[in-house]
Amino acid sequence: MTTDKWTQWLLTRRDGDSKDLRARQTSGLEFFRDGVLDRAGLKPDDVLLDVGCGTGLIGFGALERLGPDGRVIFSDVSQHLLDHCRRTAGGDKRCSFVQASAEDLAGIADASVDIVTTRSVLIYSDRKATAFAQFSRVLRPGGRLSLFEPINRFPLQHRPDDLFGLGSSPVDDLLAKVRDVYRGHTEEAERPMVDFDERDLIAWAAAAGFEAVELDYRAQLDVPAEPITDWETLKRVAPNPLVPTYGEAIAAALTDEERDRLDAHMTFLTAAETPTRRTMATAFLRALRP
Ligand SMILES: C[S@@+](CC[C@H](N)C(=O)[O-])C[C@H]1O[C@@H](n2cnc3c(N)ncnc32)[C@H](O)[C@@H]1O
Repeated sequence: MTTDKWTQWLLTRRDGDSKDLRARQTSGLEFFRDGVLDRAGLKPDDVLLDVGCGTGLIGFGALERLGPDGRVIFSDVSQHLLDHCRRTAGGDKRCSFVQASAEDLAGIADASVDIVTTRSVLIYSDRKATAFAQFSRVLRPGGRLSLFEPINRFPLQHRPDDLFGLGSSPVDDLLAKVRDVYRGHTEEAERPMVDFDERDLIAWAAAAGFEAVELDYRAQLDVPAEPITDWETLKRVAPNPLVPTYGEAIAAALTDEERDRLDAHMTFLTAAETPTRRTMATAFLRALRP
């Protein structure tokens, strides 16, 4: 098993290694994938660079839309994830794999690609403006940028203490202690995830020389959402690659007695199929390299 935090999260910690949860996350991920690709204006023989490809959500979606002369360059900082994508590609000659960070795109020549895509990658970068400059560098004139990012500043501003979308609940005291684990241990790691919003994305695109910049922003505050279906699985989930799983945070924050009380309440909510409430914001951006 790799110790690469990106690989661990994408393969197991995002869904608690549960087939069931993985299947339920798929439709949301497909929505994001299609949103990025629909805005990219792919032509059959385009060369598309996916930055921070992960397990290939965007890249393999693009291959389905490209013709035999199209190409996808999968790039990521994680060699494990590039190896994973290479295995999935199974020898498809339209694929290549480049280890590079968004902030340098080393190995990708100037003006060499038609489309740059990226999804949920800039959020982890502490040099986002530099990444936009790199996207501009590698795009040919007339090339397109299409990206998606969560805007975590929104839930942080509106629901800073909300862990599971429960609203006010009899275990608020316990959840506050668990939330403090995330706050205390991960503030610095999470800073790039909350130090920007949709207006910054537009400003960075413009500063990097992009034109025809369009951004679709969606904010949801306390919107009714799915109940928690499996508390034991949820405890194996980490909300992002940089932080502990909920179970790890609970173990660090609570006494055995408190843990039992939280378990009992969450099991009760699960059995009663109590709806949760979603607070999140997202942005799709597309832009043209003149
Ligand atoms: C949340 S995952 C998203 C993966 C993929 N884009 C998707 O949509 O499923 C973040 C990805 O960004 C990669 N990554 C993290 N920091 C990066 C950086 N500075 N430059 C390029 N990739 C990075 C990670 O290895 C991981 O694959």
